[in-house]
Amino acid sequence: MRKVRYGIMGTARIIDRFVGAVRASEKGEVHAIASRSHEKARKRADGLGIDIIYGSYEDLAKDPDLDVIYVPTINHAHKENAMLALENGKHVLVEKPMTLSEKDTRELFDYARKKNLFIMEAQKSIFLPVTNEVKRILHEQELGKVHLFDYNISIPEVGFRWFYDKKSGGGALYGSGNYILAHAMNLTEEKLIAHTGLATLSDEGVDLQCAFVLKSLGGALIQGKITTMVQADSVLRIFGEKGKIEIRDFWKAREAKVEIYGEPVRRISHPVEFEMVYEVDHVNACLEKGLYESPVMKSLYSMESAKITDDLWEDFLNA
Ligand SMILES: NC(=O)c1ccc[n+]([C@@H]2O[C@H](COP(=O)([O-])OP(=O)(O)OC[C@H]3O[C@@H](n4cnc5c(N)ncnc54)[C@H](OP(=O)(O)O)[C@@H]3O)[C@@H](O)[C@H]2O)c1
Repeated sequence: MRKVRYGIMGTARIIDRFVGAVRASEKGEVHAIASRSHEKARKRADGLGIDIIYGSYEDLAKDPDLDVIYVPTINHAHKENAMLALENGKHVLVEKPMTLSEKDTRELFDYARKKNLFIMEAQKSIFLPVTNEVKRILHEQELGKVHLFDYNISIPEVGFRWFYDKKSGGGALYGSGNYILAHAMNLTEEKLIAHTGLATLSDEGVDLQCAFVLKSLGGALIQGKITTMVQADSVLRIFGEKGKIEIRDFWKAREAKVEIYGEPVRRISHPVEFEMVYEVDHVNACLEKGLYESPVMKSLYSMESAKITDDLWEDFLNA
């Protein structure tokens, strides 16, 4: 069977892991890479063993042999870059956050639908075997009724400059809030009906840390705390009436700890080298089935996530 051919837009740090995942996937193949600078593309291609190189995103988008374009560019460029891929008839996997507003996210989905093309926000966490096992445990009510999800992300050493620029889509919420929102919507499968948030803003107006609380339709509270200011825990704790689950680095987790009170602690373990492989396998399967939208990482999640992010930014600025 012909492999699904991926083109990579940009030379971001994340692409090493993505290339590893495509190569580890059953049906994916890395076909080409582009940068706004031919030199940069050449260097990255040499390091990663990619044969076809383009010195512009436009040239990549026009490559007739490509199936999917992966868009891991700076956050504020996602919409324009994903649109370029769609305009040239390519399916798209766009890094999180899909765009910087609900309006732009909706426009991407609408345009992809009009062109009969697949588009998905890259949310690797919801494809992880650990996430799926935790979801099963929750749905089979092993913890009893779940009342509290406590998400914590700590990134004390942000190593890139655009993080500190709001227009580029920097900051804690754009950077990691979408991890929490998509993960929580996937686990609960419930609409998030209320939310409020606060942030510590830099002089340039970027949220260096933020905290928010959401309420699900079933009544559970979901709190998210993301900090780049101090070394804190990066852990998700889920509390039910009969027990709790703990997942370190939930967005790339290979392990989780399940404790049903009064019973021995149980460990879930799924070692893997490139955790994005499950997401890539899923995209390949969607394309094989001719789908234009993922039934797992639904457009609804991306749209809700973008809307809540818009609202939380209003909270941050009005506090
Ligand atoms: N899913 C995950 O596990 C995960 C993890 C980390 C990051 N991410 C996401 O992946 C994306 C990339 O993150 P990163 O930290 O790897 O980024 P990065 O290393 O800072 O690279 C960003 C890339 O964007 C391209 N770009 C396009 N327009 C640009 C502009 N106007 N200014 C600067 N760069 C521009 C550049 O490629 P060229 O110069 O080659 O054109 C650059 O290499 C982000 O959206 C981030 O949220 C996802």
